[in-house]
Amino acid sequence: MIKNSPDWLKKAVFYQIYPQSFYDSNADGIGDIPGIIAKLDYIASLGVNAVWINPCFVSPFADAGYDVADYYQVAPRYGTNADLERLFSEAGRRGIRILLDLVPGHTSIEHPWFKQSQQAVPNPYTDYYVWNNSVWETPQSDLPIIRGLSQRDAAFVANFFAIQPALNYGFAQPDPQHPWMQPVDAPGPQQVRQEIKNIIAFWLERGASGFRVDMAASLVKRDPEKRETARFWRSIRDWMDETNPEAVLVAEWGNPAQAVEAGFHADFMLGFNNPGWVSLFRKRGEGRWRDPYAWSFFDASGHGDIRQFLDEYLYHYEATQPEGFIALITGNHDETPRLADGRDTAQLKLVYLFLLTMPGTPFIYYGDEIGMRYQRLPSKEGGYGRTGARTPMQWGDGANAGFSAGPEESLYLPIDPAPDRPTVAAQDANPDSLLNRVRSLIRIRHALPALDADADFNVVYAESGKLPFIYSRSKGGQRLLVAVNPAGRPARAVLPGEMIAAQPITIDAPDSAILVRSDEGWVLDLPPVSGAIYEISG
Ligand code: GLC
Ligand code: CA
Repeated sequence: MIKNSPDWLKKAVFYQIYPQSFYDSNADGIGDIPGIIAKLDYIASLGVNAVWINPCFVSPFADAGYDVADYYQVAPRYGTNADLERLFSEAGRRGIRILLDLVPGHTSIEHPWFKQSQQAVPNPYTDYYVWNNSVWETPQSDLPIIRGLSQRDAAFVANFFAIQPALNYGFAQPDPQHPWMQPVDAPGPQQVRQEIKNIIAFWLERGASGFRVDMAASLVKRDPEKRETARFWRSIRDWMDETNPEAVLVAEWGNPAQAVEAGFHADFMLGFNNPGWVSLFRKRGEGRWRDPYAWSFFDASGHGDIRQFLDEYLYHYEATQPEGFIALITGNHDETPRLADGRDTAQLKLVYLFLLTMPGTPFIYYGDEIGMRYQRLPSKEGGYGRTGARTPMQWGDGANAGFSAGPEESLYLPIDPAPDRPTVAAQDANPDSLLNRVRSLIRIRHALPALDADADFNVVYAESGKLPFIYSRSKGGQRLLVAVNPAGRPARAVLPGEMIAAQPITIDAPDSAILVRSDEGWVLDLPPVSGAIYEISG
């Protein structure tokens, strides 16, 4: 079913803020919401018009806030509900919308619902979570259970970490042998659904513009095709379209084809499910992707293969047309290492030229706009290997890189100790910096209709193992050609026949790509690590 997306989403460039690491306004070493407000002019200076904030609600922080203990209350370390409402309005004044992080699949074991649910005596919360019949029952191989943490003589199903009990959305295929696997229309699952709706309504009423939805595919158990999970989300989308048509839902699903069908406005391509995204920026034995023979496409070796990305992307792109979007990210709080690791400024600029000229809704992870690097650190709040991609934003030269006026030992995580660590202040002052390149590319994206999220996308040249990669974007009579050559050697392409008659106008070729007319047609010569945007007229 085709749904309409709000117009603002078609122009959206998102910025992801990890609140504990962005800016500390009260010198306790932890970033906070007044800190985000204090930096809104910086955020606006990027040109982004939407922000996603990781969970900022009351939590014991065993998974950095993805273990929510009160969905209706901002965690004291981040401020108050009034601060968050002030953020909505201050951001709104600058044309920036705020998406919160909704964690619908599980709560913390500290959540009052769970504290009730785990009691031996039945009560209204007994069926809010997925419990089996007895701690001694033989576990089901597909359902990770935790025993021994409850008064109740039963084991609960965990969604992610042991301290994240799965909320009960029911089973798509309940096993009649095990009546504790409740059908989706049982009272417990229905109540849980209503609770999630209440949370969404509460924050939309206060000024949020939507949600990034954590583990959106994980709700209904034994739902192999995700049909029942999708049915739930479609009902939420229908209701939001009626009551809040400007609000959006972005899934953490890792399957845009499925998530958009399920009612989401957009979905991410992510490391855990999308080797095509991994092949762009994250191969080369890095992070979780320790395959020494696998190369990123955006690598100066030129060994990458754009088809590894494109074949997967095109499948999702076709499936999500015309009103659903793919969110391409520079990184996030789960992906390791950071985009900048193993890349110099020229390579990073080229990555952004690509990201900001592709269809859909691009997301820039805080710090990636200045090329912050991954740090090797011990685990913090359940981060494990992810911890090093969550370090404080580097604002300037001052103490703690301007992140906090608190003592160094109090910082949420240590600052990158490298003497040449990138900072906002230094890059602000340098017209050739990555930061200023990101800003100019966002400006170009906003100025050209053919770079809207929903503008047409066509592959012009993308051959396995060959360079460059060339694609076109068009909308409302405007047609653009984008070419990228990530390799440390020149690349040449002859544009296909249908473009021969066209008169390309260079919009952006900072690395001096050359497009010349020859007998063969238009020939594009790209120097090492370069890209270009042309407008094709005529
Ligand atoms: C998502 C979050 C991740 C969290 C997990 C459990 O993948 O992005 O940070 O640990 O869900 O909620
Ligand atoms: Ca603080």
